[in-house]
Amino acid sequence: MLKEIHEQPESLRSTIVPRIKNKQLPDFSTDEIPDQVFDNVNRIVIAACGTAMHAGLVGKVMMEKLLRIPVTVEIASEFRYQDPIIDKNTLLITISQSGETADTLAALRLANKHQAKTLSIVNVKGSSIARESDYVLYTHAGPEIAVASTKAYTAQLSCLYLVAYHFALIKGTISETDCMRQIEELQSVIPAVEKTLTLADDINKICETLAEKEDLFFIGRGLDYALSCEGSIKLKEISYIHSEAYAAGELKHGTLSLVTEGIPVIALATQSNVYNKMISNIREVRAREALVILITNGDSEVDSSIYDYHIALPKLSDNMAPFTTAVVLQLLAYYTSVHRGLNVDQPRNLAKSVTVE
Ligand code: AGP
Repeated sequence: MLKEIHEQPESLRSTIVPRIKNKQLPDFSTDEIPDQVFDNVNRIVIAACGTAMHAGLVGKVMMEKLLRIPVTVEIASEFRYQDPIIDKNTLLITISQSGETADTLAALRLANKHQAKTLSIVNVKGSSIARESDYVLYTHAGPEIAVASTKAYTAQLSCLYLVAYHFALIKGTISETDCMRQIEELQSVIPAVEKTLTLADDINKICETLAEKEDLFFIGRGLDYALSCEGSIKLKEISYIHSEAYAAGELKHGTLSLVTEGIPVIALATQSNVYNKMISNIREVRAREALVILITNGDSEVDSSIYDYHIALPKLSDNMAPFTTAVVLQLLAYYTSVHRGLNVDQPRNLAKSVTVE
């Protein structure tokens, strides 16, 4: 897992760079995805499982922001047994590292049956999901062996961003100049992820404390909420510590009663539009004597009385912060598991590819 975490600059480069062509704009011609795929699309449904579904949560925020059409993220195992409202004007995006996840494949087949357009973001070439989709955008993350998905997740994010930018250009909801600027920002993620990896030793030290805990919370708003969901599953699956991801504003509607002295709260505060709101939420948990691990985008000046540990990410635009945040959350899960003496790569009860229901 550690090797795969460290491969992320390379997997991001391989996934992003070949899709940026003339004038630094997204180009899917080598993927044989024609612009017409996006004609008449009035709704996007993203269906996936686990970490891939969490990538979809980030994709939804970015796509709705850029495209101004509704995007829903569906847990594939739920979607397949509902009676989903999809038709030929729906674009169904499935996301899967293995391309063989049974529920995601079933969601894709259901969409095909309803004549929706289907686009898959898949890592394994020629896998079932890739074969049965109208179009495929491969993540070039290379083989991912550890059960916990890491480099596939950030590569999936990069594909979702490229789809959002490309589609927005076609729809005319973004100008070429703005798109070029955002594509430049997307490329700046690669060195920023490299820099984030140098925080590994600091994160390792924090994990000595986390390894002794049995419950913890991840909180965030907007993109940070989507990342909280991913941080929580990553920690659970390899450290066996119970954790929950909460939209920070929801805490006081019930869950705050569980926040007591010494409970770790990993607070993601990378989004400037809700930064002050997040700080208020952190004060709420701090008042209950929670152990706060604060993650910010850049080294913003924060009142040091509200946290125990502060991880400052290399400064990126708000939209790009998910990439560096993801790396920190992966390292937190990894080192916590190591301090607990567990088998990081093959956690109990889990398989890398879930090909049965
Ligand atoms: C990720 O760390 C998990 N092991 C798991 O949630 C995984 O993402 C999920 O099973 C989906 O797999 P897929 O990407 O191969 O479809």
